[in-house]
Amino acid sequence: MVRNVAGVMAELEPEDFYLLSGVEQGMRFSEWVNREKLPDLSNLTPEEVEYRLDRCASRGLIERKTIQYEGYTLTAEGYDALALRTFSKRGTVEGVGAPLGVGKESDVLEVQSYKPMALKFHREGYTNFREVMRERDYTSDNQHVSWLYTARKASEREYEALETLFPEVSVPRPIDQNRHAIVMAKLEGVELDRAKLADDQVVGVLDLILREVAAAYETGYVHADMSEYNVAVSESGVTIFDWPQAVPTDHENARELLDRDIDNLLSYFNRKYPGHVPDLDADALGDAVAADDFQTARDYTV
Ligand SMILES: Nc1ncnc2c1ncn2[C@@H]1O[C@H](COP(=O)(O)OP(=O)(O)OP(=O)(O)O)[C@@H](O)[C@H]1O
Ligand SMILES: [Mg+2]
Repeated sequence: MVRNVAGVMAELEPEDFYLLSGVEQGMRFSEWVNREKLPDLSNLTPEEVEYRLDRCASRGLIERKTIQYEGYTLTAEGYDALALRTFSKRGTVEGVGAPLGVGKESDVLEVQSYKPMALKFHREGYTNFREVMRERDYTSDNQHVSWLYTARKASEREYEALETLFPEVSVPRPIDQNRHAIVMAKLEGVELDRAKLADDQVVGVLDLILREVAAAYETGYVHADMSEYNVAVSESGVTIFDWPQAVPTDHENARELLDRDIDNLLSYFNRKYPGHVPDLDADALGDAVAADDFQTARDYTV
């Protein structure tokens, strides 16, 4: 399911955002924020808090739970609203459009702006959190790691990688980042898994991808989740996206992860286009990619 908060954004008033941001503050200490703390956290009177809680809860931006106390927590949509508000104040995002994709741990939406852009909301930690909450009646926990934190860290890591890699490596141009969200250029073309390459294009496209993998390594990163789902192919070339788990090349497992990425690509190409990729010496190929000395896969035919 794509969560899309765009519809309610226009109805929200500045004080609604004070309340949401008060709940966000409180969630640094507890997954369920005690209602009594909300006037202080959000800088609103208790009457105003009551009114805003109803408005935000009825729009699905917060959730309430009463166990030992009456507590509130942000939903994914509530956190999305806070990030969107920031982007809108900065002038990055004017409006949000149709869904572009749903990942295991993200929702990606089209952005209305002067040129085609994409907005990615990270969901790392959110699904887990929902499951744990269903099973246990937790109202507070001592060593809690909020999903807000997990999703925000993933978004920051991905944005940092994009900023380092762009434009040397063909990745979506990074535009803005806030909380768990990233704004970036919209991808051209389709994911590799949906592309139907002509026989005489197969090795050429594999080469293009491996050259980007080599350029990324040279720039300081291993993607570490390389697959046919994280590469876009178009008339104008290939783009590698989805970088939150990227690992710096000085990491002790960097080379191992690079080899695994290459292996994933080769086995995909062999599976989907049998007979169109020569048998390759994967070790020699990996060495060449790591040394930024790669031209074409054919050079490593066994
Ligand atoms: N910049 C973009 N422009 C257009 N569509 C995009 C863009 N980024 C992502 N998408 C779409 O959203 C989907 C999910 O994005 P992405 O792969 O970055 O997230 P993910 O949740 O980490 O995915 P995964 O399931 O591989 O873990 C992609 O498969 C793609 O269809
Ligand atoms: Mg992906």
